[in-house]
Amino acid sequence: MISLKFLNHIDEIVIKLENTKILWFNKKGEEFKLKSDSNIFEQLFFDDIEKFAKYVYEQKSYNSEQIIRFPSEDLIYGQIIYISEEQLMIIKDKTKEKLIEEIKYNLVSSIAHEILTPLSSLKANSLILKEKFPDTESLDSILNSIKRIERIVKQTQLIAMAQMGLYELKKTLIDPKKIFEEVKNDLSKIILEKNIKLELNCHVEFLEADGFVIYTILRNLLSNAVKYSFENSVVEILITDKVIQVKDHGIGIKKEDLNKIFQRFYRSPEAIKMAPKGSGLGLSVVKHLAQLAGYSIKVESDWMLGTTFKINLR
Ligand SMILES: Nc1ncnc2c1ncn2[C@@H]1O[C@H](COP(=O)(O)OP(=O)(O)OP(=O)(O)O)[C@@H](O)[C@H]1O
Ligand SMILES: [Mg+2]
Repeated sequence: MISLKFLNHIDEIVIKLENTKILWFNKKGEEFKLKSDSNIFEQLFFDDIEKFAKYVYEQKSYNSEQIIRFPSEDLIYGQIIYISEEQLMIIKDKTKEKLIEEIKYNLVSSIAHEILTPLSSLKANSLILKEKFPDTESLDSILNSIKRIERIVKQTQLIAMAQMGLYELKKTLIDPKKIFEEVKNDLSKIILEKNIKLELNCHVEFLEADGFVIYTILRNLLSNAVKYSFENSVVEILITDKVIQVKDHGIGIKKEDLNKIFQRFYRSPEAIKMAPKGSGLGLSVVKHLAQLAGYSIKVESDWMLGTTFKINLR
């Protein structure tokens, strides 16, 4: 066996196995009171242990994150990596990251709640005023701002939920044409203002998917396509059982910006000029929901010619 002593200097626990017997572990493993010459399954406990055992016996590599209990009674949230060719098990302590993520999520959801409650009362009262004074322009502007804040808060909440894996997918048979009509209706104002023609090419009656996920993805992609299209142009939507595709003939995205557009709050200077109102959260929501549903995303774009977003459903 080659010397593994250099592994004493790293922060991860590294365990050399022979099938399920612990042959050696590094210094980090000593901190957690591992014992050599013992069976790994008598030393470590985690939820997925049966699956892990199966992978070890079948000589397959394994990678997963979960809570692990050690002989020292320590509990950590860790990433377990098993490299079958080397019979090496690596455990990376991610407790801190997980805690920070959880704190962030709790913070986001409590802020969201604190903002949304008074906001809905503000909205209700503004609507009452609007009925009394229908021609007051400043009330329209107040209502628009309320809607904008509401959308930003809800989108942020959704990203936090998806990131934490807290959004539970509900797969049912959904009618994509119906969802498309809903989205079109939501965006009718801007579609009309810019005289955009939406051409739907739908090859399926039903999709087996989470209706909310499909609605949110389509709504964000179409909203972008319309917002960043030139006036009087066409947006083409293709829906099959394998793909949802939205193609526009708008300002496009520069090559160097393609890897930034899914970042939270990113908006290109040209996009800001074209549509000043926007939070830069839409595509981040799309990314996280797609990840959750197991969909992949592809973007093709030509600067000042147009953009195509493709969501591969399988
Ligand atoms: N179809 C498109 N054509 C050109 N640029 C796009 C398109 N879709 C996205 N982008 C670019 O990616 C950025 C991020 O998009 P995203 O949907 O996340 O935010 P937004 O549309 O600016 O705001 P929000 O969706 O939160 O209202 C946009 O600001 C724009 O620069
Ligand atoms: Mg958007």
